[in-house]
Order: sequence, then C-alpha cells, then structure tokens
Amino acid sequence: MVKTATAVLSALLLCVGGALAQDFMSPTVNIMEELGKLKNMEERLRTLEETVQNQRVLVEQLQKENEDRKVAFSASLLAFGSGYTGPFSSVTSPLIYKKVVTNYGNGYDSNTGIFTAPLKGVYYFRFYAHCHIGIKMAVSLYKNDKVQCSVFSVKPLSNGNASNGIVLILDKGDQIYTKLWDKSWVFDDPQSYTSFGGFLLFPL
Ligand SMILES: *[C@@H]1O[C@H](CO)[C@@H](O)[C@H](O)[C@H]1NC(C)=O
Repeated sequence: MVKTATAVLSALLLCVGGALAQDFMSPTVNIMEELGKLKNMEERLRTLEETVQNQRVLVEQLQKENEDRKVAFSASLLAFGSGYTGPFSSVTSPLIYKKVVTNYGNGYDSNTGIFTAPLKGVYYFRFYAHCHIGIKMAVSLYKNDKVQCSVFSVKPLSNGNASNGIVLILDKGDQIYTKLWDKSWVFDDPQSYTSFGGFLLFPL
C-alpha cells in the first residue's frame, strides 16, 4: 500500500518536474534573450534616473532665476520730517531717497540713491518732484552718467509738481538715479511728494 503511494507520488513529482523543465527548456523561452532584455531595461532605467535628476537641477535653476527676476522698488525723499533738498550751486551727487517703501531684489541703495540693475532687461522708471514758490525745480533721471529725461518748473507761483517716466533697456550693473539741477530744489514731507521708483518689465 505504502509502496503504491510512494510510486504514485514519485510519478506525480516526475510529472511536475518534467513540466517545469519543459517550460525552461522550451525553445519559446530563450533565457539569454530574456536576460538581454532585462539588461536593456536596466540601462533605460538608469538613463531615465539621470534625466529625472537633470530635470530636477534644471527646475531648481529656473526657480532661482525666476526669483532673481523679481525686481521692483519705490522710495520717497525724506525718511521723516519735512523740508527742502537744495538749492546747491553745483550738484555732484544723486538725490538720495531715504524712505524705502519697497525694494524687492535690493536693486535700490538708500545710502546712495542709486538703483543698480541686477540683470539685463527692460525696466520702467518714474520720478515725481514737488517744490514750493521761489526757486526753480529741476530734476533729471540718469542712466550711468547720461541724462534720460527731466522735469522742470521755473519759479512756480504757489508750488510745483512734475513727473516723468521712461522705459529703458539696461545691462546688468547699469545705474539709474535722479539728480537735481544746479540752483534748484525739491520739497518733501510725510506725504511723500517727491519720489522715485522702478521695476523690471521683462528680462532679456
Ligand atoms: C502740487 O501738488 C500738491 C500736492 O498734491 C498740491 O497741493 C498743489 O496744489 C499742486 N500744485 C499745483 C501748482 O498744482
């Protein structure tokens, strides 16, 4: 009885083993070919991983570049109090706008009154000047050492207001500032009448 059972089991095992062996040995499964495919897949996976890593670096670079492109500032002349700036017989330095409202990207320096372009691009600038009776009010906006546009009010009857704006193509490092003309003045108080501002329209 036991003998028969063993024989049956052996026969069964032989059968299963045979079937397995047949699967592996079958001419339809080419092990070398399958291994080749696996190797190929592994290579493609490695390339894909490299691509993903490169893309990640690129995205980080773009995010940083995008952050660098946020440039906008706005400031008015007096940090506190009220009073005149000028007249000077000979003006050598820029108007220094002390009350900084916005300085995104830190392009504007409130110690010098100079905005320095952090990147090449098209920028917009505007300035506003206010004065009282008596002396002429004249202010020019400069790119590096060249006048770009000006405002002028000769001996206003009660007081004077003027503004001008300009779109400029700047290289990285170009400097923009405003300057009084000789023997002219501007006035400012907590209302921030006399002001200067600008922003990057788009990078180049
Ligand atoms: C200039 O602006 C100030 C402030 O808005 C105003 O009080 C004044 O009347 C203006 N001057 C002239 C001449 O319009």
